[in-house]
Amino acid sequence: MSERKLQQITIRANGVSKKYGDSVEADFVLEDVKLEIRQGEFFILLGPSGCGKSTLLNMMAGFVEPTRGDIFVHDQPVRRPGPDRGMVFQHPDASLFPWLNVRQNVEFGLKMKHMKREERRLISNRFLDMVGLSEHETKFPHELSGGMKQRLQLARVLANDPEILLMDEPFGALDAQTRSVMQAELVRIWLHTNKTVAFVTHDLNEAILLGQKIGVMSRSPSAHIEAVYHVDLPYPRDATSTEFVELYKDIASHFNVTGRSDGVQVGAFPPSLTKLGGLP
Ligand SMILES: Nc1ncnc2c1ncn2[C@@H]1O[C@H](COP(=O)(O)OP(=O)(O)O)[C@@H](O)[C@H]1O
Ligand SMILES: [Mg+2]
Repeated sequence: MSERKLQQITIRANGVSKKYGDSVEADFVLEDVKLEIRQGEFFILLGPSGCGKSTLLNMMAGFVEPTRGDIFVHDQPVRRPGPDRGMVFQHPDASLFPWLNVRQNVEFGLKMKHMKREERRLISNRFLDMVGLSEHETKFPHELSGGMKQRLQLARVLANDPEILLMDEPFGALDAQTRSVMQAELVRIWLHTNKTVAFVTHDLNEAILLGQKIGVMSRSPSAHIEAVYHVDLPYPRDATSTEFVELYKDIASHFNVTGRSDGVQVGAFPPSLTKLGGLP
């Protein structure tokens, strides 16, 4: 989407730091995070496990307060969650209502907005269909597999039509086939709407498949965004193309690609990359 004009800044952090607890000795998880996400942008936060990706996303959502500095959404400091930001959690159980069935979960937010029944139906039909859960609309969350719950969570957030999607490793627990369907579907939705997406992952392949920009985070403590890559490749992206592979190698150089301890998933090399990079 390089042809998109330079848009206004939707999410901004300038010198945001976070430590949990009041203890003086406690390390800062994040320190001096600088970040700009523009309107309509698909922005990836990529970093090793434990570097503070969820913490940063939770601060954007208004669930966690920064220790220093502020995150701004449209120039307003984030103080609490709001309907402009929809969060897709890593673990769907945190957000689904166990006493509501699949369709009722999708329609919950719409009902809160006093939307009429017929209109709610239309919207829930659309998103249940999209995530492949139409056949399961009367089931309850405990009757669904992990992947189905995750798809339900996504349908529910999309039904609420937030301007900003905050996504915390949303596809990490899905099987490979479902993951790639959902990735493609997310890109399609994003291309057809003007949503701003902040998407957390530790999977480099996923980052390059999806993102227009990739903010590479350093390790905790005192993690921050140490580089931002622009991914100027058309969608759907081809993980075997030369440009993809080159970018993969570039970004992987930020991490320990032999993968002993840093937790960034760079192991699933396409065969071409294994050949080109001479990696194990
Ligand atoms: N509620 C919390 N209380 C105390 N420490 C926390 C809390 N949430 C996260 N942490 C710590 O902050 C660090 C970053 O965690 P997190 O943001 O979940 O990282 P990531 O999502 O990148 O794996 C970890 O060391 C984690 O233990
Ligand atoms: Mg996390």
